[in-house]
Amino acid sequence: MISWNETLSTGIDVIDDDHKFLISLINQFAELAEHCEDLAQISIAVGALNEYVLNHFRREEILMMVCTYSERRQHQREHKAFTDIVDSLQQLYRLRPRLVNLREVAIFLSDWLNSHIAVSDQGYVAQMRAHKSLVDTVSTNLRDDVNFRFDEPDHLRVS
Ligand SMILES: [Fe+2]
Repeated sequence: MISWNETLSTGIDVIDDDHKFLISLINQFAELAEHCEDLAQISIAVGALNEYVLNHFRREEILMMVCTYSERRQHQREHKAFTDIVDSLQQLYRLRPRLVNLREVAIFLSDWLNSHIAVSDQGYVAQMRAHKSLVDTVSTNLRDDVNFRFDEPDHLRVS
């Protein structure tokens, strides 16, 4: 189980709210992994987690882009590696549920999220604070419109 604490805070409300919700989804999954035998219920929990992770990463990546965070490519690679693992686990669970050790998956998810928020996400905090008004404006759009897109202008592109 992970619990929210101030060392995980980024000070960016839309991101902190996402992180708190992700923690609650992972804790719910850990609870199911411990006690639930209902494969359909577990599949629903994994699907919900997967979908929220994708939406959260998209929001975070847009904010990293608008504040021109120089390490965002590396950060996106971390996100991608994580979503690839979660996708594979989801597929394996769909095909051969008994091969997946749900308790170990729950520990992996908790540890990954905890260290990603505590270390990697802290990397962009100073840059986002330096662009606070822009980040606040885009955050409002990200909250109001789940399909909000921000196409990367050429001058923001990092090769
Ligand atoms: Fe992140």
